[in-house]
Amino acid sequence: MKQLFRILKEEGSIYVCSDWSTSTAIDLSLQKYFKVRNRITWEREKGRGALSNWKNASEDIWFATKSDTYYFNPDSVKLKRKVIAPYRVDGKPKDWEETTEGNFRLTFPSNFWSDITIPYWSMPENTDHPTQKPEKLIAKLILASSKPGDFVFDPFLGSGTTAVVAKKLGRKYSGTEINREYLLGAAKRLEMAESNLSIQGYQDGVFWERNSLSEMNRNKNFQTLSSEELFHETKFDAEHR
Ligand SMILES: C[S@@+](CC[C@H](N)C(=O)[O-])C[C@H]1O[C@@H](n2cnc3c(N)ncnc32)[C@H](O)[C@@H]1O
Repeated sequence: MKQLFRILKEEGSIYVCSDWSTSTAIDLSLQKYFKVRNRITWEREKGRGALSNWKNASEDIWFATKSDTYYFNPDSVKLKRKVIAPYRVDGKPKDWEETTEGNFRLTFPSNFWSDITIPYWSMPENTDHPTQKPEKLIAKLILASSKPGDFVFDPFLGSGTTAVVAKKLGRKYSGTEINREYLLGAAKRLEMAESNLSIQGYQDGVFWERNSLSEMNRNKNFQTLSSEELFHETKFDAEHR
């Protein structure tokens, strides 16, 4: 923490992921140096069932800043949700949009994220790394807390998700990873990102709910995905409906 505080820009932000058992320690440790602003709970859905305890299916992501002057852009991370009870005033949609793909509302991001699954085997971004984060999750953090051209650093790169997403979103990036095999995998992903900038679940500047593939397919700019991605996405959506 001390070293991260040293290298972070005065107006920079830091995000630290943890599970329930380390979350309290992370919070206390962050508080020693940074201004802790929030804790995001990510419902990652998949978790190993246990007979004598609750299934562990969530993670905490602590958000802190170095000072009170920091960049935060909620408009860049809005969630496109299906409207369950379409409310109208004078016959017109109230705060939602009627489209040929369905009825949607753009909502401000909250600190509870239930729209992101861990990368499944059938997703193009999936690697062999055991704790790989989804690109969609990292994209939210990077978009909310940095501008294009800003610098993103991840001291625990793993499969390289942070660097890959930073690259796709036009940020500068750097990181460290102790395991050579993971590092080589990250380098490969960075190379692949040169010809494929798509981030599953993020399209036309908005994030889509889980299982929105059919609506995304019908979205007018869907042609940005390759036919191979289309195949994987369709398969993924069919499996998780
Ligand atoms: C939780 S994983 C990160 C996963 C990553 N966010 C992703 O999406 O793939 C943590 C990574 O930190 C690496 N690591 C552990 N200790 C390290 C150290 N002292 N320096 C650099 N990397 C380290 C591990 O090898 C592991 O790949």
